[in-house]
Amino acid sequence: MSAHLEQWLNLALRWAHVITGIAWIGTSFYFNWLNSRLAPPPPERREPGVAGELWSVHGGGFYRVVKYTIAPGELPRTLHWFKWEAYATWLTGFALLVLVYYVGAASFLVDPQIARLSPGAGVAVGVAALIVSWLVYDALCRSALGARPLALAATLFVLATALAWGLAGLLSPRAAYLHVGAAIGTIMAANVLMVIIPAQREMVAALTAGRPPDAARGEQAALRSLHNNYLTLPVLFIMVSSHYPATYGHKLNWAILAALAVIGVATRYWFNLRNQGRKNVWILPAAALALVALALVTAPRSGPALSSVGSQVSFADVRLIVARRCAGCHSSAPTTPGIPAAPLGVLLDTPDEIRANAPRILTVAVDAHTMPLGNVTGMTVEERVLLGRWIRGGAILR
Ligand code: HEC
Repeated sequence: MSAHLEQWLNLALRWAHVITGIAWIGTSFYFNWLNSRLAPPPPERREPGVAGELWSVHGGGFYRVVKYTIAPGELPRTLHWFKWEAYATWLTGFALLVLVYYVGAASFLVDPQIARLSPGAGVAVGVAALIVSWLVYDALCRSALGARPLALAATLFVLATALAWGLAGLLSPRAAYLHVGAAIGTIMAANVLMVIIPAQREMVAALTAGRPPDAARGEQAALRSLHNNYLTLPVLFIMVSSHYPATYGHKLNWAILAALAVIGVATRYWFNLRNQGRKNVWILPAAALALVALALVTAPRSGPALSSVGSQVSFADVRLIVARRCAGCHSSAPTTPGIPAAPLGVLLDTPDEIRANAPRILTVAVDAHTMPLGNVTGMTVEERVLLGRWIRGGAILR
């Protein structure tokens, strides 16, 4: 496929993925909020079987939503299910994963600085991560642990962190992050497809047949919904994480991911409490503080080698390194096959361009080693140190 068409396919898939993801998360947030805000109707409007009602105004109309304890006496002809948002999010996400990380495996999936995996082996690791994660998760939910939600959640958190640690030792850093997100996203979509929707179908069938619905299936579905609710915010971060080399490019990237997941889950918990009208003043500020603390403890330190005196770096050296290691891709006329234009518009041809990008170069090539991509141009540690010295010394053109 020409690199040009690949970009447009990428655009179409990513756009569709964001749209369907917003639709999925939007309905999920809405129904969670709805459920916790329902109130019993006033006595004059009490109906048998009605658990609660809610009034709202939106877009120029008034809405009254009614929730039944189990089901209305008679099911309406049209019943909306809300499942295609989840399926379409997974399908577009998986297609994007294949396009970016599997078709482009040599550049984006594997990284010889991390592990010597062939692109094919990298793809096998990635796909296995998705499948095995679902199988293990599903088995745990159905085991005796399923009846102890907090112990189950703690176990799942430890396993997800172990997955992040394992993938960080096998795949390129950003692919490792993305696969943790894809594994969680797969679990969330499979929860809808394999547990929640079948339980709803069973419920409809039972009511139509006039028998009581299967309580155990209902409980599993509720557990999976609860998990999906809490997993949303961590997954959202992972999906945009490729913009943040300071996270995935850090030596302890798996631990940073675990910390961010806790912050995301806590934030969601605060929203859930608030939806229920329960006040909590400390969770959100604590989550924000934890984010600041995480930023501070992961801040790169300029080691002695970088700040040593008497080591004036000449710009000629910097320019040579950038030309040799970076400009094959980051140029107005890239020479690397498969790179039709400077990635993300980062141009490093002229002195001015190099100087203007100095802070970003520091992040990706000196502190995190996420550039050159997969280190295809074979940049050495000495060269990184030299760039760091030049930039930390003020990035002055000499
Ligand atoms: C083999 C091609 C290639 C080489 C060589 C390369 N890069 Fe990149 N670079 C990329 C690609 C592709 C992206 C876009 C990644 C993405 O889509 O997020 C990128 C992104 C970047 C970004 C933007 C990061 C962000 O998220 O904002 C910077 C800065 C950058 N590269 C700097 C460098 C520097 C400095 C070097 C040399 C030390 C270098 N690159 C070498 C391919 C390359």
